[in-house]
Amino acid sequence: MCGIAGYIGDGVAKDYLINALKRLEYRGYDSAGIAVLEKGKEVRCVKKVGKIKELDESLKDEEWKENVGIAHTRWATHGIPSEKNAHPHFDCAGNIYLVHNGIIENYKILKSMLEKEGHIFRSNTDTEVLAHLIEKYFTDNLEEAVLNALKHVEGAYALVIIAKEDPDKIVVAKKSSPMVLGFAEGETFIASDSSALVGYTDKVIYMDDGEMGVITKDDYRILSIEDSSEIEKKPDTIEMDLSDIQKNGFDYFLLKEIFECPEVIRNSTRGRMILEEGLAKLGGLEVLDQNRLRNIERIIIIACGSASYAGMVGEYMLEEYAGIPVEVELGSEFRYRKPILDENTAVLVVSQSGETADSLASLLEAKRKGALTLGIVNVVGSTIARSTDAGVYNHAGPEIAVASTKAFISQMVVFALVTVYLGRMRDMSVVTGKRILAEISKLPDLVDEVLKENDNIRDLAKKYAGYENFLYLGRKDNCPIAYEGALKIKEISYIHAEGYAGGEMKHGPIAMIDENFPCVFIAPKDSVYDKMRSNMEEVKARNGKIIAITTKGNEELSDIVSDTIHIPKTLEMLTPILACIPLYLFAAYVGIEKGLDVDKPRNLAKSVTVE
Ligand code: F6R
Repeated sequence: MCGIAGYIGDGVAKDYLINALKRLEYRGYDSAGIAVLEKGKEVRCVKKVGKIKELDESLKDEEWKENVGIAHTRWATHGIPSEKNAHPHFDCAGNIYLVHNGIIENYKILKSMLEKEGHIFRSNTDTEVLAHLIEKYFTDNLEEAVLNALKHVEGAYALVIIAKEDPDKIVVAKKSSPMVLGFAEGETFIASDSSALVGYTDKVIYMDDGEMGVITKDDYRILSIEDSSEIEKKPDTIEMDLSDIQKNGFDYFLLKEIFECPEVIRNSTRGRMILEEGLAKLGGLEVLDQNRLRNIERIIIIACGSASYAGMVGEYMLEEYAGIPVEVELGSEFRYRKPILDENTAVLVVSQSGETADSLASLLEAKRKGALTLGIVNVVGSTIARSTDAGVYNHAGPEIAVASTKAFISQMVVFALVTVYLGRMRDMSVVTGKRILAEISKLPDLVDEVLKENDNIRDLAKKYAGYENFLYLGRKDNCPIAYEGALKIKEISYIHAEGYAGGEMKHGPIAMIDENFPCVFIAPKDSVYDKMRSNMEEVKARNGKIIAITTKGNEELSDIVSDTIHIPKTLEMLTPILACIPLYLFAAYVGIEKGLDVDKPRNLAKSVTVE
């Protein structure tokens, strides 16, 4: 949700900034802008509505030699996408320029105060207030002005600021929105996340909430925003490969990431399964007092969107195999409820980005109330990962396409491992532990087998791309997969879809069924297969078209269904991992068939860091 970047050093600022914006574009893509600075000259600032390539094109005719700069790709919250609302925003004097990710909650009060003092506003954004507020306190030192200004600011921010009249530094500040600094010889890079830094440096500092950074060409200082005291922070080394953030021959990141799933499962499980003992080895949970984990009486899983559906899959696994009662709560709801938590409740937050505002706020609320907090997070070093007591990283690698696919798959795989980990501390037998792990270890090959259905699914997508509505149905472990399938076709292909529990169909949605309302049934040969089959008969009796996802070898549906996609047999609790893949390919190809940019669906942003 908004990508921010900054550069100071010996190189050309614009080159890094544009490259960084391209890599951060998944965070927002309705408008973009850049501002660069050279001592003794006016700041040069260009903004464009649309994608980064529009901004990049518009910079081609001029020379850009400046060594200091900031840039932004926007996902609108306050004010429509337009040049005047695009960042960087600046003050009345054209001295202070800044980019911001987050929301300034008290901007209306600040704006009216500043307007009364004579400041002239140009945009409808909350961000612009910061430029004027810093201007109010600026004499000749940028960090002093920023420290003074931030004392009056309520809300969330990752800020990168430059000043024409204090030109040898960049000041950054963070509260609740992510920011990382990268260091190389004679250069410092700033970005919303580390994917922008790959190939530039592997030495990074993750900024924490309440911190301000003062960065010059060769040095940096981190200060507390609250009391200006110095905070000692040394760079960490991160591991990331350029191929992680490139399309590697695929037309879309979305397809690349779906096809990466077998490797993702290998990475999520590597070194984490002791097959012969039926034990999961999760270093991130071993740091805890194991008695505390053994005594957990209830788990509340908190997440948003797809991650919450992964949580529901986890709920089935944990209840059935680890014997722990589980509830799944949306982050946006939990944070405003009066949750009943005690020391034997664990709150487990699931998040790809590790920055989702609602999930983070819920986590902090749970911490405040004394619950044990755990995480299943993909982005290493993200705020949620750092705020939990313990957790498990997904190791899915950077997910660039806005719609989550490979991260969702890895979330379910990690849930299976956590189930074995917690289950084996309780009543799960060694035999069951071994059986689950043996099946998990086969998953990469089984997903490869599903991916071989690619051409069949692409043909189906062509056949069905013209329909305006879909109903997705699943039961038990695959009920959340019905929700996920419907969400994916909505967000990637802009087709209305509903995801329902199979048994709920007769309680309402069946009224919609006719020949123009296809139903996607997730119906592997499992304990609820016969129930799903009955639901299919009911749809068939109303002339509904059926696409069925079922187990290889099951041919008995041919009289009822219009089309079938087969998945290999696996343990019932793991079927969601296989059933999801065809739904992802289907949504992707329907979107591509409709000529859409399936990597960057309209109105969405990858990391939802605002409420
Ligand atoms: C859907 C999707 C979103 C995210 C949700 C949570 O494809 O990507 O629904 O799952 O915004 O995001 P994270 O997992 O980053 O907390």
